[in-house]
Amino acid sequence: MVHSTLMPGIIVIGAQWGDEGKGKVVDVFSAQADYVIRYQGGANAGHTLVVDGKKTVLHLVPSGVLHPNAVCVIGAGVVLDIEILSQEIEALQEAGLLKDPKQLLISDSATVLLTYHRELDQAREQGAGLEKIGTTGKGIGPAYEDRASRKAILFGDLFQSSTLKQKLMSSLKEKNFLLEKLYKRKPVDPESVFKSVEKIAEKLAPYRCRDTSLIVYKALKQNRKVLFEGAQGTLLDLLHGTYPYVTSSSTLSGSACIGTGIGPNMIDKVMGITKAYTTRVGSGPFPTELSDETGERLRSIGQEFGATTGRPRRCGWLDLVALKYALRTNGITSLALMKIDVLSGFKEIKVCTAYELDGQVIKDYPVSPGDLERTKPIYETLAGWSTDISVVKNIKDLPKQVQDYVQFIGKEMATPIDVISVGPGREQTLWLKPLF
Ligand code: IMP
Repeated sequence: MVHSTLMPGIIVIGAQWGDEGKGKVVDVFSAQADYVIRYQGGANAGHTLVVDGKKTVLHLVPSGVLHPNAVCVIGAGVVLDIEILSQEIEALQEAGLLKDPKQLLISDSATVLLTYHRELDQAREQGAGLEKIGTTGKGIGPAYEDRASRKAILFGDLFQSSTLKQKLMSSLKEKNFLLEKLYKRKPVDPESVFKSVEKIAEKLAPYRCRDTSLIVYKALKQNRKVLFEGAQGTLLDLLHGTYPYVTSSSTLSGSACIGTGIGPNMIDKVMGITKAYTTRVGSGPFPTELSDETGERLRSIGQEFGATTGRPRRCGWLDLVALKYALRTNGITSLALMKIDVLSGFKEIKVCTAYELDGQVIKDYPVSPGDLERTKPIYETLAGWSTDISVVKNIKDLPKQVQDYVQFIGKEMATPIDVISVGPGREQTLWLKPLF
């Protein structure tokens, strides 16, 4: 990022395949933030927050919502499932949160995601056989396709009845053709979709903020603290991830600028979030995957089941080749190391520091199609520890082996580790450096 005038904008980005713990980091940081922005992705995200032992999973509302001081913004780059959003708002209000509608601002330019996007996503996946992406089934691909083909219904359209109706009719003509003729599913009735959308629009009207980009711009100019909450992770990026096994948005830090509508010189920090090991949901290459007892153990101790779909996550050792790629493509300035407590009890811990590809040792992540599938991980082995570290409050009290593990990663990556997380709760966060 360009450092012209220093502004307190920080991007929190997933440095792996998603599920790194961004929600927890954003929740903890939001205590100090004035604004928290979601700028890409949609309800495929499942950001889990645990406060006083109570779990909240957010799919669309930014993870700052548990702090009434933080204004939450949904920017233009998000695909907005208005049904899920309105249910999420209701649940938050029942829990005594989001009392003031001014705490949530939705861009008029965000793409609306409707029931037929979900249907198409699921129909495609069902018929895909070996080509299955393993999507969340939340309609993300079809909604972004509408945006790219200039057919999308925008959030602002919800408040103009005739435009909404006309766009819906035209969109459903094509979608119903696909659903009926290609996927042999029931067509969607435009009139009933229109009626239900109008009802939801009424509920969401108080959160309408035509130009959220202007709000964020002004906030940054006034030196307010702004957090940009990434969804999914680097290796799921549409352009730079493990294509085609990726999501349909750009998950890299640059997307925070585009999805919000601000310039790159307004942000000065990018925090990369990584687990102390690796997970992936859905299909696609994963060099350090463990399809054995160790992988099973990581899954059960780490509770590695999707927050959105409940699917078991694939688990493996930490991959520093992939992490180095994430550092470079996102311009990561510091790291947060999550779920290190899950590694307690392992006698030895492996870390991938290079790959073997076609008989050659490589240290740079290969991007050519098919290459990652052929790599074999090369590991360094570090000593494990047996103590329960989830109760540790100070970095100095961590066992030497944990400190060695953290230092090893920091040194290999030549990047400071600012946060270590030793459990899901807010209080289980060790700060090595203040955020803002
Ligand atoms: P989609 O985003 O639902 O289209 O799914 C595309 C790929 O991204 C699949 O492999 C999903 O499992 C993965 N994915 C999407 N959202 C998340 C997430 O929030 N965490 C982890 N994986 C995700």
